[in-house]
Amino acid sequence: MKQYYLTTAIDYVNGSPHLGHAYEKVLTDVIARFRRQMGDKVHFLTGTDEHGQKVQASARKRGITPQQLADEVSAEFQSLLPKLNISNDDFIRTTEPRHKAVVREILQQLYDKGEIYLAEYKGFYSTRQEQFLQEKDRNPDGSWPELFGEVTEITESNYFFKLRQYQDWLVDFLTKNPDWIFPRFRQTQVLEFLKEPLNDLCISRPRERLEWGIPLPFDEKFVTYVWFDALVNYYSAVRQQPDVWREAHHVIGKDILVPPHAVYWPIMLQAAGLALPRQLIVHGWWMQRGAKMSKSTGNALNPLDLVAEFGADAFRYFLIREMNVGQDSDFTREQFLVRYNSELANNLGNLVNRTLNMTTRFAGGMVPAAGPDQDLERSLRALWDKTRDEFIPLCEGFQFHTALERAMVFLTETNAYIEKRAPWKLGKSPAAADQELLRTALATMAEALRLAVALIQHVTPATTPKINAVLGYTPGTVWRDELNWGAKLTGAKVAEALVLFPRPAPPAAAATPAKK
Ligand code: MSP
Repeated sequence: MKQYYLTTAIDYVNGSPHLGHAYEKVLTDVIARFRRQMGDKVHFLTGTDEHGQKVQASARKRGITPQQLADEVSAEFQSLLPKLNISNDDFIRTTEPRHKAVVREILQQLYDKGEIYLAEYKGFYSTRQEQFLQEKDRNPDGSWPELFGEVTEITESNYFFKLRQYQDWLVDFLTKNPDWIFPRFRQTQVLEFLKEPLNDLCISRPRERLEWGIPLPFDEKFVTYVWFDALVNYYSAVRQQPDVWREAHHVIGKDILVPPHAVYWPIMLQAAGLALPRQLIVHGWWMQRGAKMSKSTGNALNPLDLVAEFGADAFRYFLIREMNVGQDSDFTREQFLVRYNSELANNLGNLVNRTLNMTTRFAGGMVPAAGPDQDLERSLRALWDKTRDEFIPLCEGFQFHTALERAMVFLTETNAYIEKRAPWKLGKSPAAADQELLRTALATMAEALRLAVALIQHVTPATTPKINAVLGYTPGTVWRDELNWGAKLTGAKVAEALVLFPRPAPPAAAATPAKK
């Protein structure tokens, strides 16, 4: 079995999860389930990023300790996972001993190798971004961009990691591995960024300024810079499983690609003599009214409201169907409802209803054996073969939105097939040929439904088993075998009805913003 290690970014614990965080989990879960279906041995990690200035400041504001805040918010992130049907194997918190020990071990190793040095730093510092700034970070008018918040001038001694000496190596590595970052245009952006000389990275914060962090093993008067701590989570979680580590794929948002994941992280690993991840999979942002959905903008949606209203699978389906991985997408409730109604309730929901209903009415609830294919069946089968054959490579290339579109086309055509065959007319005819066609129609619609939901089960992991159950079907363990058109349902006893995607009650209430 091929190993496939998959991680999400770990979320800051200074605010509640919003739709952007939920999307990343869902996307990663869809990849994880897809890889498992392809026969890979998947290890799926997610977690929370708990140290640093932001968490210390948020805790202070609430009059609690950073640990209390981290415990509370990390629990909130963890409780979201089952509600979204996320199939993670592990959850890591950066405050756990298993993580802190590895961060300290790597720091000590790099220090011993002479990759880390002490120097005096004088310059501008952004508390919000926990980052030292350079002249090139200023706006053309000399002011500091909004995203840095308050900027202060400071002089202090700090430890630096020798990033610069790895610049040529990194450029060479990226040039030789053009698919290291998905989508490719993001890799071009990284190479663009690397045209400017890199500065060594300040990896410490004096404890008098920041208490909430991992102490440097070689100088306890300092704590570790939060990114140097956070990135290591991917490795510390599988420290004991080198074969898992070698197959790492990191799913992240575009805001944390350059420089943390595309520059700091590969250089840290290279310097420590560790294998680099196989790939970075970089998604875009969910936007609302033209701005990135975020806690600070106040336009963030609480994913749990949508899940409560429409169910986890409808929520997952929308996010994956709507977003082209790598691009941004605007979230509107209107668009959500359009997809929910037309694709899930109408296309899929109607096919389920018609299949159950007509099998009950015309065949006593038992899927009959099909007669020989006619033209209509032949063309639906041909469409199925094409759909399936295109679907898998699309998913392998993270083009899940197009893959789902193809599945929808197949469902639409299946519904059109039913209209053309009109089993309700055949049912009225006593002619033997019509009765045979009726059996063919019932068998064909049931089989098409079975196949379509087998195809999208990584997106709809709760709905697919429900549909299998009402079709009286127990799927096999090998996914590919499940995708061959056949007679697996012949003789199966179907249920009379299943309500899957009920119409939401109009007028639509607006989802409430994510909790602050
Ligand atoms: N703690 C760091 C990541 C450290 S990884 C070693 C962080 N945390 S975060 O909570 O701000 O963001 C976590 C993830 O959520 C990031 O990948 C980020 O891109 C993603 N999203 C946050 N808002 C988003 C949207 N509006 N849309 C899609 N994803 C976005 O960064």
